Amino acid sequence: MTADTADILKVEGLTKTFGGLSANEDVSFSAPRGAICGLIGPNGAGKSTLFKALLGVHKPDRGRIIFDGIDITDISQQKRCRLGLCCTFQISESFSELSILEAVMVGAYSRTSSRAKARTDALVAIGEVGLTDLAHLRYSELNVFQRKKAELATALATNPKLLLLDELFAGCSLHEIAELIDLIGALNQRLGTTFIIVEHVLHVIMSLCSKVIVLESGRILEIGTPAEISTSPVVLAAYLGEDYDVDEHQKFGR
Ligand SMILES: Nc1ncnc2c1ncn2[C@@H]1O[C@H](COP(=O)(O)OP(=O)(O)OP(=O)(O)O)[C@@H](O)[C@H]1O
Ligand SMILES: [Mg+2]
Repeated sequence: MTADTADILKVEGLTKTFGGLSANEDVSFSAPRGAICGLIGPNGAGKSTLFKALLGVHKPDRGRIIFDGIDITDISQQKRCRLGLCCTFQISESFSELSILEAVMVGAYSRTSSRAKARTDALVAIGEVGLTDLAHLRYSELNVFQRKKAELATALATNPKLLLLDELFAGCSLHEIAELIDLIGALNQRLGTTFIIVEHVLHVIMSLCSKVIVLESGRILEIGTPAEISTSPVVLAAYLGEDYDVDEHQKFGR
């Protein structure tokens, strides 16, 4: 397989058990290069576990992960990041006195040891999310929405080919969610970054994604376009319920 194949990610038969519990069971799917994909399912379906396997936090019991033509199943988190597979991560309390610029530079240092280059790359990433005027502010001074954008900038500073977003929109107002949807759509267009988004607010998935993967109890229930997923009898029966109306942008699983 070469790095210019249409799918940037191929997951084959991924299985992860915790004791007797199958958090992921024989999960197979692909993510087209340049697409925004959604990963949905109720609480405990195995979405975060799957992300952790992709990132190398968990070692799967079985299965393979092919990223950009390379089998990454057994390689370290750091190497995966350098290859271009990254996630957003919350800035912990111990880093809350860092400025946005300093925090985003942490992401940039994954690709360079030069302070000047890290600073330049961080400023570009901060500009991409529209935080340039706030780059000097400390994390502890930011509101939730500004933190989300700073976390996004930190991930962008690693120069990802595939960016995993696990509930990035949690805690945001409807207005902020609309702004984040526009921002991610614009980043996808401008930078060509592939995204996989875990999100309980279905409006986000329906607005942004061209492909949706539905997990239930660790297994793939359905894969399709938002239109196919929202009319799939098996998905409707399992998750959305008879009252689901796509236009109402209902939440589920919460
Ligand atoms: N480190 C762990 N040890 C034991 N069980 C775990 C661990 N991580 C996850 N699980 C279990 O695996 C299952 C899947 O959890 P996971 O966090 O992947 O679900 P999720 O789809 O992300 O849910 P949510 O929507 O609530 O974030 C759950 O039953 C959870 O309790
Ligand atoms: Mg989760």
